Amino acid sequence: MNILVLNGPNLNMLGIREPEIYGDRNYAALVQFVQDAAQELGCQVDIRQSNHEGVLVDWIQEAYGRFDGIVINPAAYTHTSVAILDALKAVALPAVEVHLSDVDSREPFRHISYAGMACKKTFKGLGFQGYKEALKFLLEL
Ligand code: DQA
Repeated sequence: MNILVLNGPNLNMLGIREPEIYGDRNYAALVQFVQDAAQELGCQVDIRQSNHEGVLVDWIQEAYGRFDGIVINPAAYTHTSVAILDALKAVALPAVEVHLSDVDSREPFRHISYAGMACKKTFKGLGFQGYKEALKFLLEL
């Protein structure tokens, strides 16, 4: 199984940004974690990060016919992007939403997820482990 793992804006700042919320491990550590998890679970991953909404939309579109599923942490675009929601619906690949933090226990504007409306499942508040749970969920589908 070939899974596209997408990360949205500011996740490249992990380790620096709000460590009390996101922890002190950096983005490279997240990439390593996801690659190790994929190897352990027996799937292939392509993990990418962009600060740009349109780039994320392009990557979702390009996944059509190339990947078997998508794991996505749209970061701040979670709460604003109808474009990412529409792209996920357009390709209709099984998708799982991940958030490092527990968005439901944070500010009210983080309780709404547009991307989540096109996802089969959401893992939140589990830190890096959420990505592994998302991969496991897709493999078990
Ligand atoms: C996040 C939660 C979002 O609300 C926030 O904008 C992020 C990261 C998370 O992983 O917890 O950038 O998606």
